[in-house]
Amino acid sequence: MHQSSFQSALDTAGKGAERIAELFYWMAGGATLIWIVTMGLAVYAILSRREHSVRMTRWLVIGGGAVVPTVVLAGLLSYALVMLPELQRPAPEGSLTIEVAGVRWWWRVNYIDNTGRRIPTANEIYLPVDQPVEFKLTSEDVIHSFWIPSLGGKVDMMPGRTNRLKLHPTRTGVFSGVCAEFCGTAHAQMRFRVVVTDQQTFDDWLVGQAQELAERREPSANTDPADVHQSAAETQAAIGKTTFFSRGCSACHAIRGTPADGVVGPDLTHFGSRLSIGAGVLDNTPENLRLWLSDTHRVKPGVQMPDFQTLRGDEVDSLVHFLGALK
Ligand code: CUA
Repeated sequence: MHQSSFQSALDTAGKGAERIAELFYWMAGGATLIWIVTMGLAVYAILSRREHSVRMTRWLVIGGGAVVPTVVLAGLLSYALVMLPELQRPAPEGSLTIEVAGVRWWWRVNYIDNTGRRIPTANEIYLPVDQPVEFKLTSEDVIHSFWIPSLGGKVDMMPGRTNRLKLHPTRTGVFSGVCAEFCGTAHAQMRFRVVVTDQQTFDDWLVGQAQELAERREPSANTDPADVHQSAAETQAAIGKTTFFSRGCSACHAIRGTPADGVVGPDLTHFGSRLSIGAGVLDNTPENLRLWLSDTHRVKPGVQMPDFQTLRGDEVDSLVHFLGALK
């Protein structure tokens, strides 16, 4: 799978972004051409010893100062305006619909399946390749802006309003999404990952995301003596689950299929399958999760999650096992 190592609107992977990049190249090309001609004339004016007639200079001022800019700018503007309706057209009826809400400083994501049921997740968006997708964007607090540079343009997320955006990924890969509107302390750390896959992988992923914890195979007593390591991890995870409730994590986070039903923070039902921690801030590894749980505010200053520096080392370890196993 193609891994995007950097985030660029010119590294296109969606129809919207392709058109926007095309517009950028024409604009940049036009601007460069005009710059070269202007500089050429300036150099000529400095070096030329010849006296110019008033008639010629007048035409140069009218032509170069008014006529040429009007024609060039009108051309580029018409080209951009022709593109607008195409970029704004909604996805066809029946297309995949995803609701995303900006929250300080993460992303609440709800997939709407074909029965109208909402499937919640956070900070990560899977999309099937070569399919139009309709996003419904809103905010739960301040103004944010939803932007996946490789896939398309950005759209503001406003409290009390739903804005829409159509995206159409054209190749598979992992892409970066960001908040593109200054929204407070952790604005620059309000990110997410976008995973574009083939249709089958996407369908399987969505079925998995819809499952609650109870529907999955609960860790069973492992009797195979060769697999002592595995059962130690499972014991740790079971302790972590108890810690999750006793330390109050469930007041803010939901794990569907358990009594944890908090809605203040991200839904963690499938946390272990996500690529990042803290809304795109760290890669999802056990070491990083340990860091996040023990020193949250150093990793992401301003984050709404309280600092749990009172957690003992063994409690953090058990939480890392429990959360990491939530695939
Ligand atoms: Cu949210 Cu910037």
